Amino acid sequence: MGTRTIYPVKRLRGELEVPGDKSISHRAVMLGSIASGTTEIAHFLKSADCLSTIDCFRRMGISIEERHGRMLVHGKGLHGLTAPGGALSAGNSGTTARLLSGILAGQHFSSTLSGDASLNSRPMDRIITPLRLMGAEITGINGTPYAPLSMEPEQLHGITYLSPVASAQVKSAVLLAGLYADSETSVTEPALSRNHTELMLDSFGADIFTAKCSADGSITACVKPCQNLHARKICVPGDISSAAYLIAAGLLIRDSELLIKRVGVNPTRSGFLRVCRAMGADITLFNQASDGGEVYADLLVRTSRLKAAAIEGPVIPSLIDELPVLAVLAAYAEGTTVIRDAAELKVKESNRIDTVTANLRAMGADVTPTEDGMIIKGGRPLTGAQIHTCLDHRIAMAFTIAALAASGETTIHDSGCVDISYPAFFTDLENIISH
Ligand code: S3P
Repeated sequence: MGTRTIYPVKRLRGELEVPGDKSISHRAVMLGSIASGTTEIAHFLKSADCLSTIDCFRRMGISIEERHGRMLVHGKGLHGLTAPGGALSAGNSGTTARLLSGILAGQHFSSTLSGDASLNSRPMDRIITPLRLMGAEITGINGTPYAPLSMEPEQLHGITYLSPVASAQVKSAVLLAGLYADSETSVTEPALSRNHTELMLDSFGADIFTAKCSADGSITACVKPCQNLHARKICVPGDISSAAYLIAAGLLIRDSELLIKRVGVNPTRSGFLRVCRAMGADITLFNQASDGGEVYADLLVRTSRLKAAAIEGPVIPSLIDELPVLAVLAAYAEGTTVIRDAAELKVKESNRIDTVTANLRAMGADVTPTEDGMIIKGGRPLTGAQIHTCLDHRIAMAFTIAALAASGETTIHDSGCVDISYPAFFTDLENIISH
């Protein structure tokens, strides 16, 4: 997995594009595979997680090829997938495992879906429960709530599901299964999670709508059983979760100015920008445009003096993957930052409350873990340390940024895990370091 040594840098300068959005890339392959016709995907993220999704669909008879830098997914329609010979592997990817389960539950063949050690220890009851309510026959290994998952063919029924967690993976699994149900399916979540599935289903011609309850503010997504999805051209915006590391570096490192182009700023994903601005960040958005309902913009980032902020409530799902790097920003900011309502951090690629706390402490920060977040007393100078990523890509990248702004030498162990979402991370960083 490799080791990287990181030294402090003087300034960052330059203009770049970050790779395509991971969540949207997964969904483009999934919907492209079950649509009729060829879906052409530009700026597809070729990271380990998205390649796991491609591999699963290839194994179910879908031809996916790369031509002139674009992915072509030759969809075979809603009922065109064929039984894979043996277990499908989602690798490290929770999105592949959970969204694909929703699709597999509606198929006419049996299937088994597994992953790596990290994925097989992440909770799957959150999708097993609603899919069973829809009539699916889905079981975790030895009756546990963990993958490998096995699925048997069953007719699905529409449900009205009140999700206990604000999770796009849960919502999407249920909505995708809803395409195969015999009546309408709806999912209500406590706070709005990323809505890429809803936007993309709509753009592929599914009958889907969302509604906000005026009484409690909850959001419901509703999908009707589907006869056919139509292939389309997709241009994936840059991944704001990847851009977040570069933005954080630009804010922290003295005398920096970065222009990051075509970054997805869908409001259900851009809580990071809102919180950074509340912390005093100098970030300007311009050239805003959209593709298939997904809004993107160019971002100009300049070094800023940061102050603490409260990070809690409904903003949490819109920045859940950015919390490790926000914790790093908080450690450099003036004042005490409290992160609350983020217990979901415990069930990511690592327990991110533990991994962030341990690594921030190793660098000299004052951080206290809580049941649903962290309290970070910012403003202490950080020093280089040994960073243990626990094979979690977001920990590797967040602490590389912490190290660029710290004093001394930092070692990032198992740094190769950045391949999960941002294979060019270290190269992109090197290209903006100005000597
Ligand atoms: C994702 C949803 C989020 C996020 C993950 C990607 C998606 O997970 O953390 O990296 O693409 O739907 P949850 O749905 O579990 O919050």
